[in-house]
Amino acid sequence: MIKIEHFEELTSTQEYVKSKWSEGQNLIVTADRQTSGRGTKGRSFSSNEGGVYVSKLTFYDNFPTKDAFKIMAGSAVAVCETLRAYGIWACIKWPNDIFVNDRKISGMLIENVFSGRYITSSAVGIGINVCNPLPDELRDIATTMRLETGKVFSVDEVRRRLIEELSKPADMQKYQRYLGYMGEEVTLILGDECVPATLLSVDEEGGLWVKIGQETRRLTAAEVSIRL
Ligand code: BTN
Repeated sequence: MIKIEHFEELTSTQEYVKSKWSEGQNLIVTADRQTSGRGTKGRSFSSNEGGVYVSKLTFYDNFPTKDAFKIMAGSAVAVCETLRAYGIWACIKWPNDIFVNDRKISGMLIENVFSGRYITSSAVGIGINVCNPLPDELRDIATTMRLETGKVFSVDEVRRRLIEELSKPADMQKYQRYLGYMGEEVTLILGDECVPATLLSVDEEGGLWVKIGQETRRLTAAEVSIRL
């Protein structure tokens, strides 16, 4: 049994689980709201009451670094399956943003600890917009379960379902099935450059294959992001 702790308010569930890293115990931490929610690339993550905010700390015995993508893919599938249980068909915008109707409904932050060729632990932080009000600057690019369906959902129930989905092993076939935007023309943000490209596929190790002009290239999440 994994320990689960819930708080009405935290600065960030992710920072909280990381403060427990030295205890060496698997742990799930949830909060009704975060005052300083963290996103990827040093960004903040809007975390008003009405959303699901979960971080899961997992310790591994023999998890090869080459399989790191499975942690991300499994978490992305867990969110899609959770949404699907409420009749919402989401897709994954590579590598792990979750979109509905071209707007982001959920994001995740994954921080791994490495030792040689192994991952010894990971902190997976997930936010899902359920009924939380979105700040003005996110209205055009984000959405919530409520906005998509016109229905009100129990945040506690959505959170419970997500935690259940996160306990399942990563299903890479489902990741491929939920993957969106393949075959589409997008803009790639490569460093300071915006490059038009066609998305082709995502391989087993999470590399994104794209066509830029006549050239086919493999890119990693560290070097590129996708703008729709
Ligand atoms: C992103 O889309 O940029 C990643 C967002 C990750 C947000 C979650 S909410 C729970 C956990 N706590 C945080 O401070 N961040 C993650």
